[in-house]
Amino acid sequence: MRASDKIPFLDLVSIHQELREELCQVFQTALSTGCFVGGPMVEAFEQDFARFCGVRHCVGVASGTDALRFALMAAGVRRGDVVVTVPNTFIATAEAITQAGARPTFVDIDERTCNMDPEKLREYLETRCRLDSVTGRPVELASGRPVSAVVPVHLYGQPADMDPIQALADRCGLIVVEDACQAHGAEYFSNRGLSPTSPADSADPSPTPLPSRDREGAVQGKASLLPGGRWRKAGSMGRAAAFSFYPGKNLGACGEGGAVTTDDPEIARRIRMLRDHGQARKYYHEIEGYNGRLDAIQAGILQVKLRRLPDWNESRRACARRYAELLAPVAGLIALPHEPSWARAVHHLYVVRVPNRAEVQQELAAAGIGTGIHYPIPLHLQRAYSALDCSGRDLAVSERTAPELLSLPMFPGLEPGQQERVAERLKAAAAAEAVAGLSEQVAGR
Ligand SMILES: Cc1ncc(COP(=O)(O)O)c(C=O)c1O
Repeated sequence: MRASDKIPFLDLVSIHQELREELCQVFQTALSTGCFVGGPMVEAFEQDFARFCGVRHCVGVASGTDALRFALMAAGVRRGDVVVTVPNTFIATAEAITQAGARPTFVDIDERTCNMDPEKLREYLETRCRLDSVTGRPVELASGRPVSAVVPVHLYGQPADMDPIQALADRCGLIVVEDACQAHGAEYFSNRGLSPTSPADSADPSPTPLPSRDREGAVQGKASLLPGGRWRKAGSMGRAAAFSFYPGKNLGACGEGGAVTTDDPEIARRIRMLRDHGQARKYYHEIEGYNGRLDAIQAGILQVKLRRLPDWNESRRACARRYAELLAPVAGLIALPHEPSWARAVHHLYVVRVPNRAEVQQELAAAGIGTGIHYPIPLHLQRAYSALDCSGRDLAVSERTAPELLSLPMFPGLEPGQQERVAERLKAAAAAEAVAGLSEQVAGR
């Protein structure tokens, strides 16, 4: 097979070739000004990214993991707290919770979107926690620890179902920190403030039930996208949100980088200190902090690439539509990503579900097609979390889906012909595996 026949999972070369001159100019500026950490390039990028996300503040940091950790700490998560997230995510989501001094716990995902299922969050809060009579906040029954925050992850570039999550968080006094590390530019249609689902906006202080779900898995009243509701960018809905600029992300640096977005000036101020050894003024340290700053060169590169992000996201959307058309005939064999009417995903990853994943992946690799797995083992089953007692917890959807998830090639500029080849090979492999499975059943094995 010629190298040019191969279809990579991700192409990080072509997009940088196109921008070569502008990117080199960033290096020239840094070399000629000697400004490598902080300074005007970082500030300019922060302003542009805040505007892009529709928030007042953006603070550049060294990675998405730092962004999550600092956001949790600055928003008020304390040592010993419990923070709720999902098991189907990159480990950094949970690592950041632990690094903020808290303990991660998990609620299950929705089978069709692979994002946090708000019903499971409600179940956890209602059956595994009691409300503290003094603070009115939930306390986990098993551990006796206060539950202080929830971290919905906008996985694969698709927003989590934020309205019911935020309604619950409001009801229980929880801090919401979005993990938007995979979702630069994704949008969510929010009806928040329109109905009594949001007690924060309602005069009635009594607990309000979560909205029920229709067959599509969409919140009722959502599918119709109520007049007065609005599309909101990922990163603009929680108290704070974390972004990663790891190179393969929709907006990626040429190295490491991350950012926190927030409307809260106090959270932004604290993160500026946390990222810089706890100082607001050089060598005057109000708290102990970290070395978690965004490099000026990376900020300059990100500013150049941010201008292209809307086009790149459109290109990813077109690729997702094309995959959906090409794979529609085998939708019974291969489960395709589901985008609810209230979501505008940016398809950081295009993840299908196939039985016999190992064999299908091998067959694609033999045809020169790169794929990925996001993620093979739900976090609660990782050895790193063996000490977290999740026994008796219903995380069945995460466990059932994990062995079947397969990420197909997805990047701006992926060509229709390449997608046709991926689809052909995938259909053939999935069909062959289905026949092999049937023969084994018939043979009684
Ligand atoms: C969902 C999610 N959260 C957090 C992170 C952490 O970001 P970083 O690698 O920049 O620390 C990532 C990055 O892969 C991610 O995908």
